[in-house]
Amino acid sequence: HRHLLGIEQLSPDEIVTLLDLADDYAELNRRADKHGDALAGLTQINMFFENSTRTQASFELAGKRLGADVMNMSMQTSSVKKGETLIDTAMTLNAMHPDLLVVRHPASGAVDLLAQKVNCAVLNAGDGRHEHPTQALLDALTIRRAKGRLHRLSVAICGDIAHSRVARSNLLLLNKMESRIRLIGPPTLMPAGVGALGVEVFEDMAEGLRDVDVVMMLRLQKERMDGGFIPSEREYFYRYGLDAEKLAMAKPDAIVMHPGPMNRGVEIDGTIADDINRSVIQDQVEMGVAVRMAAMDLLARNLRERTAA
Ligand code: CP
Repeated sequence: HRHLLGIEQLSPDEIVTLLDLADDYAELNRRADKHGDALAGLTQINMFFENSTRTQASFELAGKRLGADVMNMSMQTSSVKKGETLIDTAMTLNAMHPDLLVVRHPASGAVDLLAQKVNCAVLNAGDGRHEHPTQALLDALTIRRAKGRLHRLSVAICGDIAHSRVARSNLLLLNKMESRIRLIGPPTLMPAGVGALGVEVFEDMAEGLRDVDVVMMLRLQKERMDGGFIPSEREYFYRYGLDAEKLAMAKPDAIVMHPGPMNRGVEIDGTIADDINRSVIQDQVEMGVAVRMAAMDLLARNLRERTAA
């Protein structure tokens, strides 16, 4: 592939290839010298039109560890504030000959559109409620390292499914890897017609979590609720927040995941999030760097092959 825009475009074999390479990078990242040269001589620009801690930091570290020249555009202080459009901004940066453009944008489809205009490789770092492919890949790597496999695992994705690009990318990936998926949440936060995707849908947490291997919690994406129904946080925690009582319904060795940022006491009890025997939330962050190194390495190989041809 020329770009990484979504899980939708990846085959199961391509996902496994990327995860295998990311596994190697995860080991490299634990060594004293964390550096490789897969991106040496390449220029990477990160454009984040929406706030980020994990994704932006890990893309920056991933690029630097593999030898790229990395530039973080500060969108808050850019000429976007003077009315310049996304495409004009991207074309301006494109004229500076980047090789890799990492883009996060609040509009679904914005990153795909931009990829059609520029001549470098584009990586989707999250577009609206559409896709967040590197998040699903780092989640898959975390699950595979904890459970030894992805197929025939029962994975519960809980909470605000409707507004979540993380849920969408995970759903696509876990389906391709033959995991069994349960979606748990209030009907108001469940996308219409999701049952047709071959997933089980539950309104009740205790019922949905029964005997699952993986519990994936999601934040209420209030910024995407367009002034519609926003549940009261106290009521939401009571019904859908992951606490010890609800987690007891899952398998005794079930792992707890959260893509971050977390709202403690809303979708997850802080003590569960911090329980190192159950929570793999920090592993997810660690795998984020490795997955982004692998994704950019594979795109750079493709770029070099096309340049040489
Ligand atoms: N999981 C995730 O995308 O986190 P950030 O918004 O902090 O990048």
